[in-house]
Amino acid sequence: MNALFVTGSARRNSITSRLCDIAASAMADADITFIRPHEMNIEHCRGCGSCSSSGKCVIRDDMHRIYDCVEKNEIIILATPIYFSGPSSIMKQVIDRFQCVWAASKGKKKGKAVALIAAGGSPSPVFINTISIAKAFAMTVGAEWSGELIIGGTDGLEEIPEEMFREAYSFGSRIAASHF
Ligand SMILES: Cc1cc2nc3c(=O)[nH]c(=O)nc-3n(C[C@H](O)[C@H](O)[C@H](O)COP(=O)(O)O)c2cc1C
Repeated sequence: MNALFVTGSARRNSITSRLCDIAASAMADADITFIRPHEMNIEHCRGCGSCSSSGKCVIRDDMHRIYDCVEKNEIIILATPIYFSGPSSIMKQVIDRFQCVWAASKGKKKGKAVALIAAGGSPSPVFINTISIAKAFAMTVGAEWSGELIIGGTDGLEEIPEEMFREAYSFGSRIAASHF
Protein backbone atom coordinates (compact mmCIF):
# COMPACT_ATOMS: atom_id res chain seq x y z
CA MET A 1 0.00 0.00 0.00
CA ASN A 2 1.19 3.51 -0.65
CA ALA A 3 0.68 7.04 0.61
CA LEU A 4 1.65 10.44 -0.71
CA PHE A 5 2.30 13.50 1.46
CA VAL A 6 2.18 16.87 -0.33
CA THR A 7 3.58 19.63 1.87
CA GLY A 8 2.64 23.28 1.48
CA SER A 9 5.21 25.09 3.60
CA ALA A 10 8.51 26.49 2.33
CA ARG A 11 9.94 26.73 5.85
CA ARG A 12 12.87 24.55 6.76
CA ASN A 13 11.82 22.08 9.46
CA SER A 14 8.25 23.40 9.28
CA ILE A 15 5.59 22.30 11.74
CA THR A 16 3.39 20.83 9.02
CA SER A 17 6.23 18.82 7.52
CA ARG A 18 7.16 17.50 10.96
CA LEU A 19 3.51 16.52 11.54
CA CYS A 20 3.72 14.65 8.22
CA ASP A 21 6.87 12.82 9.36
CA ILE A 22 5.13 11.75 12.57
CA ALA A 23 1.95 10.62 10.78
CA ALA A 24 4.07 8.76 8.20
CA SER A 25 6.01 7.00 10.97
CA ALA A 26 2.71 5.47 12.09
CA MET A 27 2.14 3.94 8.63
CA ALA A 28 4.69 1.21 9.14
CA ASP A 29 3.98 -0.98 6.13
CA ALA A 30 3.24 1.76 3.63
CA ASP A 31 5.38 2.84 0.72
CA ILE A 32 5.55 6.60 1.39
CA THR A 33 6.37 9.44 -0.99
CA PHE A 34 6.88 13.07 0.03
CA ILE A 35 6.37 15.84 -2.49
CA ARG A 36 7.60 19.35 -1.71
CA PRO A 37 6.08 21.66 -4.34
CA HIS A 38 8.11 24.69 -3.21
CA GLU A 39 11.24 22.88 -4.42
CA MET A 40 9.69 22.27 -7.83
CA ASN A 41 8.99 24.37 -10.89
CA ILE A 42 5.23 24.81 -10.81
CA GLU A 43 3.32 27.55 -12.60
CA HIS A 44 -0.08 28.97 -11.73
CA CYS A 45 -3.19 27.72 -13.49
CA ARG A 46 -3.76 30.13 -16.38
CA GLY A 47 -7.50 29.50 -16.49
CA CYS A 48 -7.12 29.15 -20.25
CA GLY A 49 -9.83 26.49 -20.49
CA SER A 50 -7.82 24.21 -22.81
CA CYS A 51 -8.22 21.32 -20.40
CA SER A 52 -12.01 21.49 -20.56
CA SER A 53 -11.89 19.83 -23.99
CA SER A 54 -8.58 17.94 -23.85
CA GLY A 55 -8.50 16.91 -20.16
CA LYS A 56 -4.81 17.89 -20.23
CA CYS A 57 -2.91 20.91 -18.98
CA VAL A 58 -1.00 22.88 -21.61
CA ILE A 59 1.69 23.97 -19.14
CA ARG A 60 4.90 21.95 -19.30
CA ASP A 61 6.40 22.02 -15.82
CA ASP A 62 6.95 19.75 -12.81
CA MET A 63 3.22 19.24 -12.20
CA HIS A 64 3.43 16.05 -14.27
CA ARG A 65 5.34 14.49 -11.31
CA ILE A 66 2.50 15.43 -8.94
CA TYR A 67 -0.19 14.15 -11.34
CA ASP A 68 1.71 10.83 -11.60
CA CYS A 69 2.11 10.52 -7.84
CA VAL A 70 -1.54 11.30 -7.16
CA GLU A 71 -2.56 8.75 -9.80
CA LYS A 72 -0.31 6.03 -8.33
CA ASN A 73 -0.99 6.54 -4.62
CA GLU A 74 -4.05 5.30 -2.79
CA ILE A 75 -3.81 7.75 0.11
CA ILE A 76 -3.01 11.41 -0.48
CA ILE A 77 -2.34 13.66 2.49
CA LEU A 78 -2.30 17.40 1.87
CA ALA A 79 -0.36 19.27 4.55
CA THR A 80 -0.45 23.04 4.78
CA PRO A 81 0.06 25.90 7.17
CA ILE A 82 -2.92 28.24 7.55
CA TYR A 83 -2.20 31.49 5.75
CA PHE A 84 -4.86 34.21 5.98
CA SER A 85 -7.43 31.61 7.06
CA GLY A 86 -6.79 29.40 4.03
CA PRO A 87 -4.12 27.03 2.70
CA SER A 88 -0.72 28.42 1.74
CA SER A 89 -0.44 29.74 -1.81
CA ILE A 90 2.01 26.89 -2.51
CA MET A 91 -0.72 24.37 -1.76
CA LYS A 92 -3.47 26.31 -3.50
CA GLN A 93 -1.36 26.66 -6.63
CA VAL A 94 -0.97 22.88 -6.81
CA ILE A 95 -4.67 22.28 -6.17
CA ASP A 96 -5.73 24.76 -8.86
CA ARG A 97 -3.64 22.83 -11.38
CA PHE A 98 -5.94 19.83 -10.83
CA GLN A 99 -8.63 21.54 -12.91
CA CYS A 100 -7.49 19.37 -15.84
CA VAL A 101 -8.06 16.22 -13.74
CA TRP A 102 -11.56 17.42 -12.98
CA ALA A 103 -12.10 18.11 -16.69
CA ALA A 104 -10.85 14.63 -17.62
CA SER A 105 -12.70 12.49 -15.09
CA LYS A 106 -15.35 14.68 -13.35
CA GLY A 107 -14.54 13.11 -9.99
CA LYS A 108 -15.02 9.49 -11.08
CA LYS A 109 -14.31 7.32 -8.03
CA LYS A 110 -10.87 5.74 -8.06
CA GLY A 111 -10.76 4.00 -4.68
CA LYS A 112 -8.50 6.62 -3.19
CA ALA A 113 -8.63 8.60 0.04
CA VAL A 114 -7.55 12.16 0.77
CA ALA A 115 -6.79 13.61 4.21
CA LEU A 116 -5.60 17.00 5.44
CA ILE A 117 -3.00 18.14 7.94
CA ALA A 118 -3.23 21.85 8.75
CA ALA A 119 -1.45 23.97 11.35
CA GLY A 120 -2.24 27.56 12.26
CA GLY A 121 -0.27 29.89 14.48
CA SER A 122 -3.11 31.49 16.41
CA PRO A 123 -4.86 29.72 19.28
CA SER A 124 -8.05 29.37 17.19
CA PRO A 125 -7.17 29.40 13.50
CA VAL A 126 -9.92 29.38 10.87
CA PHE A 127 -9.67 25.91 9.33
CA ILE A 128 -13.02 25.66 7.58
CA ASN A 129 -11.85 27.22 4.29
CA THR A 130 -8.87 24.91 4.06
CA ILE A 131 -10.98 21.86 4.86
CA SER A 132 -13.48 22.83 2.13
CA ILE A 133 -10.72 23.26 -0.43
CA ALA A 134 -9.11 19.94 0.52
CA LYS A 135 -12.51 18.23 0.21
CA ALA A 136 -12.96 19.76 -3.25
CA PHE A 137 -9.55 18.36 -4.16
CA ALA A 138 -10.63 14.93 -2.85
CA MET A 139 -13.73 15.00 -5.02
CA THR A 140 -11.67 16.09 -8.02
CA VAL A 141 -9.26 13.16 -7.81
CA GLY A 142 -12.06 10.66 -7.19
CA ALA A 143 -11.20 10.07 -3.54
CA GLU A 144 -13.15 9.59 -0.34
CA TRP A 145 -12.57 12.09 2.43
CA SER A 146 -10.46 10.54 5.17
CA GLY A 147 -10.54 13.36 7.71
CA GLU A 148 -8.31 16.11 8.98
CA LEU A 149 -5.69 16.77 11.62
CA ILE A 150 -6.01 20.45 12.55
CA ILE A 151 -3.68 22.03 15.06
CA GLY A 152 -3.64 25.61 16.38
CA GLY A 153 -1.25 27.57 18.54
CA THR A 154 1.83 26.60 16.56
CA ASP A 155 3.48 30.03 16.30
CA GLY A 156 6.86 30.11 17.98
CA LEU A 157 6.96 26.36 18.63
CA GLU A 158 10.49 24.98 18.51
CA GLU A 159 9.67 21.39 19.43
CA ILE A 160 6.53 19.36 18.80
CA PRO A 161 4.85 18.95 22.20
CA GLU A 162 4.07 15.43 23.39
CA GLU A 163 0.30 15.85 23.00
CA MET A 164 0.68 17.12 19.41
CA PHE A 165 3.00 14.23 18.62
CA ARG A 166 0.41 11.77 19.91
CA GLU A 167 -2.37 13.40 17.85
CA ALA A 168 -0.30 13.26 14.66
CA TYR A 169 0.78 9.67 15.31
CA SER A 170 -2.76 8.47 15.96
CA PHE A 171 -3.98 10.35 12.86
CA GLY A 172 -1.44 8.41 10.78
CA SER A 173 -2.36 5.13 12.50
CA ARG A 174 -6.05 5.71 11.89
CA ILE A 175 -5.53 6.38 8.19
CA ALA A 176 -3.28 3.35 7.86
CA ALA A 177 -5.78 1.13 9.72
CA SER A 178 -8.73 2.22 7.62
CA HIS A 179 -7.06 1.95 4.24
CA PHE A 180 -4.19 -0.57 4.39
C1 LIG B 1 1.69 34.69 5.41
C2 LIG B 1 1.22 34.05 6.69
C3 LIG B 1 -0.11 34.08 7.01
C4 LIG B 1 -0.57 33.46 8.17
N1 LIG B 1 -1.89 33.47 8.44
C5 LIG B 1 -2.35 32.82 9.54
C6 LIG B 1 -3.76 32.80 9.82
O1 LIG B 1 -4.58 33.32 9.11
N2 LIG B 1 -4.15 32.12 10.94
C7 LIG B 1 -3.27 31.50 11.77
O2 LIG B 1 -3.70 30.91 12.77
N3 LIG B 1 -1.94 31.49 11.51
C8 LIG B 1 -1.47 32.14 10.42
N4 LIG B 1 -0.12 32.11 10.13
C9 LIG B 1 0.78 31.34 11.01
C10 LIG B 1 1.08 29.94 10.44
O3 LIG B 1 -0.09 29.26 10.12
C11 LIG B 1 1.85 29.10 11.46
O4 LIG B 1 3.06 29.74 11.79
C12 LIG B 1 2.11 27.68 10.97
O5 LIG B 1 2.48 26.87 12.05
C13 LIG B 1 3.20 27.63 9.95
O6 LIG B 1 3.34 26.28 9.54
P1 LIG B 1 4.74 25.70 9.01
O7 LIG B 1 5.67 25.70 10.21
O8 LIG B 1 4.41 24.34 8.54
O9 LIG B 1 5.22 26.62 7.94
C14 LIG B 1 0.35 32.79 9.02
C15 LIG B 1 1.72 32.78 8.69
C16 LIG B 1 2.15 33.40 7.55
C17 LIG B 1 3.63 33.38 7.19
